[in-house]
Amino acid sequence: MAKAKPSFICQSCGAVYTRWQGKCESCGEWNTVVEENASGGIGGGPQRGRRKGTPSALLPLSGELEEAPRIVSGIDELDRATGGGIVRGSALLIGGDPGIGKSTLLMQTAAALSRRGHSVVYVSGEEAVAQVRLRAQRLNAADTDVQLMAETNVEDILATLAEARRPDLVIIDSIQTLWSDLAESAPGTVTQVRVGVQAMIRFAKASGAAVILVGHVTKEGQIAGPRVVEHMVDAVLYFEGEGGHHYRILRTVKNRFGPTDEIGVFEMGDLGLREVQNPSELFLGERNEKAAGAAVFAGMEGTRPVLVEIQALVAPSALGTPRRAVLGWDQPRLAMVLAVLEAHCGVRLGQHDVYLNVAGGFRISEPAADLAVAAALVSSLSGAPLPADCVYFGEISLSGSVRPVGQAAQRLKEAEKLGFRQAVLPSGSPDLPRTRDMVANEIEALPDLVARVAA
Ligand code: TYD
Ligand code: MG
Repeated sequence: MAKAKPSFICQSCGAVYTRWQGKCESCGEWNTVVEENASGGIGGGPQRGRRKGTPSALLPLSGELEEAPRIVSGIDELDRATGGGIVRGSALLIGGDPGIGKSTLLMQTAAALSRRGHSVVYVSGEEAVAQVRLRAQRLNAADTDVQLMAETNVEDILATLAEARRPDLVIIDSIQTLWSDLAESAPGTVTQVRVGVQAMIRFAKASGAAVILVGHVTKEGQIAGPRVVEHMVDAVLYFEGEGGHHYRILRTVKNRFGPTDEIGVFEMGDLGLREVQNPSELFLGERNEKAAGAAVFAGMEGTRPVLVEIQALVAPSALGTPRRAVLGWDQPRLAMVLAVLEAHCGVRLGQHDVYLNVAGGFRISEPAADLAVAAALVSSLSGAPLPADCVYFGEISLSGSVRPVGQAAQRLKEAEKLGFRQAVLPSGSPDLPRTRDMVANEIEALPDLVARVAA
């Protein structure tokens, strides 16, 4: 039998090396490569000392169904993002920049759940009890039964939880402060975070309590520490916001118990986070309707329509290579729209700087924004403002045709509700309502839009 080779595995990203090295080339983390006996893995290795397996039950796919039991907070924006409430026995990770408002959101969540009769334990590893109390007072949460613990050692946390009144929800703020006696590295290291998170997930599964883990995000936009933490938990939410803006978006990026394209919108104020039930009104609030280069995009975020203004500035370039700057949208996607405008519509932008901005610091991920982007670009180039009562949506293909996108009816309905009277959209949208007050200008290809804007 061949001699088992040792392998060296990065504890952060799982990359495998044949020899030890200080820095993982795959994820760039230092001191995460650890020797593991690869032969102990699945499907191979020596038979020595192996336990004889006991047969488990094989079950059919059909059978009794159980709804995942959820804890509903009553904070609609949060419940929507989690897919209808936090699932008992699951672990949820909330990531975000330091200072974005994670602790604030979770204190408000804790208070809301407590008011609904759930028992909640808030474990703060970052702030002293006095600090947490001060915040709770400001958030009007001090009169609830939320139980506080200022602790960072995993074993101590688990021991305390075992004695506590069976908690429905445990909040760990944050995973970067967790450390365990079982891991030898210093607190805050990848291994410590991983071991700590693992222990909390095990606690969630065993006790049936939901666990919310807070994680800080690094400059690169990832949750600091092991990437594997994102794989370990049941759901990952990001709490985002732009500097200078008061609103915050809770975005679901992974959810084993619900959809992943939902968002919750909040506004940060003196008394904490306030739910924003109609984000379109917020994003369109400061609109200058007479400016050229601004188009309103009728977008969808999960099940909810969101209208945002897309602003473009096209100006002759003084540089050999013109500038292309994008905020809130995809740079490659902009390059594509520019190329299609050049190739199929005769719109020459090669000597122009192009700046694109999604108003209010919102971030769009939908290709349906293509048409609104194109409209804003052409409007800026021609200097002619777009009609103030018009919304745009549709995907542009490389051939220059405009393709239908989902939920056209809902987009139109939201636009109508906000006082828009017309829309430019792809022809052949499947679910358009027969009767409506809005004028739907259906177009087949991008040149139709250019003709319309330039006219
Ligand atoms: P915090 O929840 O501590 O952020 P995180 O836990 O993500 O690091 O929020 C910090 C910021 O929020 C801080 O700059 C102050 C601001 N804030 C308010 O504007 N209003 C409030 O009611 C609270 C509690 C905080
Ligand atoms: Mg905090």
